[in-house]
Amino acid sequence: MDADREEGSTLLSKAGESSRPYAEGEPILEVRDLAKHYPLTQGILFKRQVGAVRAVDGVDFDLRAGETLGIVGESGCGKSTVARMLVHLEKPTAGAIRYKGEDISRLSGRALKAVRRNIQMVFQDPYTSLNPRMTVGDIIGEPYEIHPEVAPKGSRRQKVQDLLDVVGLNPEYINRYPHQFSGGQRQRIGIARGLALNPEIIVADEPVSALDVSVQAQVVNLLDRLQAEFSLSFVFIAHDLSIVRHISDRVGVMYLGRIVEIGSDAEIYDHPTHPYTQALLSAVPVPDPEARAHRERIILHGDVPSPANIPSGCRFRTRCWKAQERCELEIPLLAVPAEFRLVDSPARHDSACHFAEEKRVVPPEGELHAPGRPVEEVAGADEEGAAEPGSEGGAEPGEKGGETP
Ligand SMILES: Nc1ncnc2c1ncn2[C@@H]1O[C@H](COP(=O)(O)OP(=O)(O)OP(=O)(O)O)[C@@H](O)[C@H]1O
Ligand code: SF4
Ligand SMILES: [Mg+2]
Repeated sequence: MDADREEGSTLLSKAGESSRPYAEGEPILEVRDLAKHYPLTQGILFKRQVGAVRAVDGVDFDLRAGETLGIVGESGCGKSTVARMLVHLEKPTAGAIRYKGEDISRLSGRALKAVRRNIQMVFQDPYTSLNPRMTVGDIIGEPYEIHPEVAPKGSRRQKVQDLLDVVGLNPEYINRYPHQFSGGQRQRIGIARGLALNPEIIVADEPVSALDVSVQAQVVNLLDRLQAEFSLSFVFIAHDLSIVRHISDRVGVMYLGRIVEIGSDAEIYDHPTHPYTQALLSAVPVPDPEARAHRERIILHGDVPSPANIPSGCRFRTRCWKAQERCELEIPLLAVPAEFRLVDSPARHDSACHFAEEKRVVPPEGELHAPGRPVEEVAGADEEGAAEPGSEGGAEPGEKGGETP
């Protein structure tokens, strides 16, 4: 779509009437060639553009209804920028985000408002993402000011209390302030706010990375449960590959503004074909000393290039141990590599490499930190006991606190 649109979108009615369920497995969101370039300027009075930071530079993926798509990659590879574009906090420079078949990337006005209701975000930092001067009730109920049709005034308090209950917090704490909760509890408040409008899609940008390790698993398990309970489709962004595997049906690996490999969790973790994925996986902590001794460790040399100066051809070539001349000249497309197209193997999934090759770098399931199984919660480390230093109300008796799924 070329121009911004105000009204007339069929999405208006679709979003307004909460059209769930969209048939499970259908692509509810299709991201095509999505890009975000930030201009680099020079000069004080007369600014001129001298380049661009290509934070996101041609990202493609589908989010299927009812699934969790994990997105992993090193710091600065563009994960948060993708997330912000999905929820309309930023406008793409190019590309399309199709929600139920219709491009929503350049919507505005009422049509945008209707779509936004259905695509909500959970932020990384539960400390800064909640307004310290608002009560929990006001924070969770704030979206109803913009969408009063979801909860008319008289019913809001009850709705917010129901949401507190759903995320495992005591509904009586509706009048408390964020500083009276521990980090994990604050993230639960953020999750409740994300659920307030009954969305179809949740984009969670590193929702547990700012939390203490002992409460990460509780929040991940809560998200897992909510996804099933509310038939949500999830985009889950994280650094920790073990957590991503636990929660994701499919996983996309990002490098320098692009997805370089994408597939089911088993395809990516057990049959990776892209050298970058293999290197990332080889760095996953392996608690079993014997398995650790047998796994192959791939050390990448050099730093990630600047997104203002992306290498020609394959953008991973400056760090890839397999790079050849072709890699400098030709951009590898994200597709099933030719050598795997006709084979019946989990290696047959999209990988942007001219010389894709299966390499198993992770020990078999069971030897890693809980891949594919519920993330283990640390015994005795519930959130009531994990209140941050200086917080005042984290350990109140009667609070629901931690998850035990
Ligand atoms: N407003 C902006 N102006 C210029 N460059 C930006 C802007 N926002 C992000 N960037 C750059 O875009 C790149 C991608 O940033 P982004 O925050 O999306 O990465 P990320 O993968 O989420 O990293 P992290 O894992 O550290 O959160 C980085 O190089 C960042 O410096
Ligand atoms: S295309 Fe070449 S440089 Fe890029 S990942 Fe494959 S082998 Fe490495
Ligand atoms: Mg980020």
